[in-house]
Amino acid sequence: MKALILAGGLGTRLRPLTYYLPKPLVPLLGKPLVRHIIDPLPAEVDTVILAVSYMKDALEEYFRTHDVGRKVILVNEDQPLGTGGAIKNVSRYLDGTFIAFNGDVVCSIDLKDMLRFHRSHGGIGTMSLWQVEDPSAFGVVGRDGRGRITAFQEKPRKEEAISRAINAGVYIFEREILDHIPDGVVSMERQVFPNVLDRGLHGYEFKGYWVDCGTRESIIAAQRTLLDLGGGKVSPELIQEDDATVVGANLIMRAHLRGCRVGPHVYIEDDVLVSRGAEVSESILLRGALVEEGAKVRGSIIGPGHVVAKGQDVKDEILARS
Ligand code: GTP
Repeated sequence: MKALILAGGLGTRLRPLTYYLPKPLVPLLGKPLVRHIIDPLPAEVDTVILAVSYMKDALEEYFRTHDVGRKVILVNEDQPLGTGGAIKNVSRYLDGTFIAFNGDVVCSIDLKDMLRFHRSHGGIGTMSLWQVEDPSAFGVVGRDGRGRITAFQEKPRKEEAISRAINAGVYIFEREILDHIPDGVVSMERQVFPNVLDRGLHGYEFKGYWVDCGTRESIIAAQRTLLDLGGGKVSPELIQEDDATVVGANLIMRAHLRGCRVGPHVYIEDDVLVSRGAEVSESILLRGALVEEGAKVRGSIIGPGHVVAKGQDVKDEILARS
């Protein structure tokens, strides 16, 4: 079986980090976002197709140098074709039933169970659904009693939303879906889903966790969720001196903490130095970042090699080379 990952978006909401790193390679607890999708795929998926465009060379390099245990095919779009156009553009690789993912979704979905659901309900496809309090930033579905989707609204106003069940960005499709995607730049959400409801599109709701890692807030929320579930870890190569304290669940690699306070929910990569009097919480410090004396970093992503200056107060920001 084939799995298709949409990985060609510009990731504008994660700039300036995504000027240097395509969103699928942004690390979440030491693993690129795209690996959080690939690694849990069921064994019957032997081939992963990545629909790429923006920064495709970096993605090619990653898959050339990392074995992910499955065949990986990268298919380029000269211009981003949108979520529907990207699926149509890989038609030649798709045979029977396939799984498709928005490339920035990290969740606890049980794909084997979703496949069973799809096979028993039939129809052109199955869309994963997640319950939220405010669905106004998402695609919202209405369903009948048998789980069949009867209406689809993209980003409705909160008071106009027909339910709180949102499109969670993981799908199982039959190849027939391709017949309903026009050529060119096409949005699945706006131009395809509303038009295939009569072909049988079912909603599969799941529980556990779901995070769309398209923004700084959501990546930090995903990190918090995974750290609370997994308990965190500190590398034996971490250098901790001058009473540096680490609180709560964190993932800290081969870094250097000197007289500072780190945690909770912090991910720190190799060769990072956090200096005396500095405080870091709910944040990501990428390889070689430097937090100088007395600086504060909260809710932020600090890019590779970036320096947070002495006494600087960084809150809810993405800082990277610019
Ligand atoms: P923003 O610019 O921050 O909105 O991010 P984005 O460009 O990634 O858009 P969005 O988060 O809405 O995209 C959802 C998923 O679809 C992401 O995994 C994108 O990589 C992917 N995607 C969006 N547009 C395209 C496209 O034109 N081509 C391909 N191949 N993938 C796309």
